[in-house]
Amino acid sequence: MTQFDMIIRGGTVVTASDTINCDVGIKDEKIIALGQTLQDDSARIIDAEGLLVMPGGVDSHVHIDQPSGPGVVMADDFDTGTLSAMCGGNTTVIPFALQDKGQTLREAVEIYHKQAEGKSWIDHSFHVIISDPTPSALGQELPALVEDGYTSFKVYMTYEGLHLNDREIIDLLESSKRHGAFIMVHAEGYDTLRYMIEKLEGEGRTEPVGHALSRPQVVEREATHRAISLAEFIDVPMLLVHVSGREPMEQIRWAQQRGLKIFAETCPQYLLLTKDDLMKDGMEGAKYICSPPPRDPDSQEACWEGLQQGVFKIFSSDHCPFLIEGTSGKLREGDKTKFSRVANGVPGIETRLPILFSEGVKKGRIDLNEFVALGSTNHAKLYGLYPQKGTIAVGSDADVVLWDADKKVTIRQDILHHNCDYTPYEGLEVTGWPLTVLSRGKVVMENGEVTGVCGHGRYLKRNKSPHAASQ
Ligand code: URP
Ligand code: ZN
Ligand code: ZN
Repeated sequence: MTQFDMIIRGGTVVTASDTINCDVGIKDEKIIALGQTLQDDSARIIDAEGLLVMPGGVDSHVHIDQPSGPGVVMADDFDTGTLSAMCGGNTTVIPFALQDKGQTLREAVEIYHKQAEGKSWIDHSFHVIISDPTPSALGQELPALVEDGYTSFKVYMTYEGLHLNDREIIDLLESSKRHGAFIMVHAEGYDTLRYMIEKLEGEGRTEPVGHALSRPQVVEREATHRAISLAEFIDVPMLLVHVSGREPMEQIRWAQQRGLKIFAETCPQYLLLTKDDLMKDGMEGAKYICSPPPRDPDSQEACWEGLQQGVFKIFSSDHCPFLIEGTSGKLREGDKTKFSRVANGVPGIETRLPILFSEGVKKGRIDLNEFVALGSTNHAKLYGLYPQKGTIAVGSDADVVLWDADKKVTIRQDILHHNCDYTPYEGLEVTGWPLTVLSRGKVVMENGEVTGVCGHGRYLKRNKSPHAASQ
């Protein structure tokens, strides 16, 4: 019997805490040894000389094959979405299962399981979006789902048909506290936003930049403060997703400094895009419409501060791909589509890690260990997957990315594997790119060539978050 199936030889192993030169020994999908010059004549040797050897990325905020309104179709299904993730150095994704009004939570997750079945290139799990918090959803279904490994739930404070009012959020937080669920919040104020949309459209401001004008930072700041206050009121942890700027970031920092268990996430679009992108010619600006909207250079700086100071524990893509061409994506009424009717979201599942590496590590803003923490380890920890995922350690799944820290790549739509028809980062030069990816010990990308198979990915049942209230 061979000791190892595979040895990753001679690389620099980087985890969220350490950087060491050693080999990684793999057997039966798991990492079974870290050591100097591991030996096994019959093992496959992967030469990692000159490369970084890191845990595969965990992207815990992605939207795949999620219904988005009549006639609107998301560009990626589980095949193209997870392929693109894998080619960007990820080995785990956590998309959302959206509960439609009138649907049970269980029906919602079953639909997404069917959509993912046999189609995932890498491992995946699901968060559940609660849009209809009926007594049975909160009293019976939520605890049953938590027991079954669906341990995180998202709520919207905005969006027609999805948003919950404060009382509904309070009831959800109370249930999550009792049953150990972890709650993620999309914090934008429904009423402030409706007011702004009506005002702008009344003035004839229907072009894409109206989206940013209708959602000034105060809309996000107020909702962030309110969400935090509700979490404090019920005494339960909470994660604020896709934080876009200085004002909400400061609310979160304030809460953390007061000892509240408030966690937060930011995304590439808030480091690289601004409101000016939404002002591009004609309907071009629609490509950059996402919520909250990209803001300004000061907010970009604030997001970096938040990443450096630990205000943000995770960096996710919020990949939410819609075609810009045709009428099934962003522009359902073509060039006449009002900003309030443009499908929200930008693609970015494949470019998340290269952007964080290039703009963060290469520009001296964060170190290598912080890169691993923000892109992989902290996601696994927050969402109950650690140490199976998110680290390089004996006993962990052999989910590994071999990263060329000096490879220069110009991001272009035609090098990406998603099914969207544009990237918001077209022309951006990055340094650092994933070369080889292992998913549970299988080489699924080798020197940039896809070697995996669609359907290799497995569903991951998760533990409760260690930060959830009742354990
Ligand atoms: O614009 C965005 N972020 N679309 C995705 C849905 C969401 O709210 O995360
Ligand atoms: Zn959201
Ligand atoms: Zn999202």
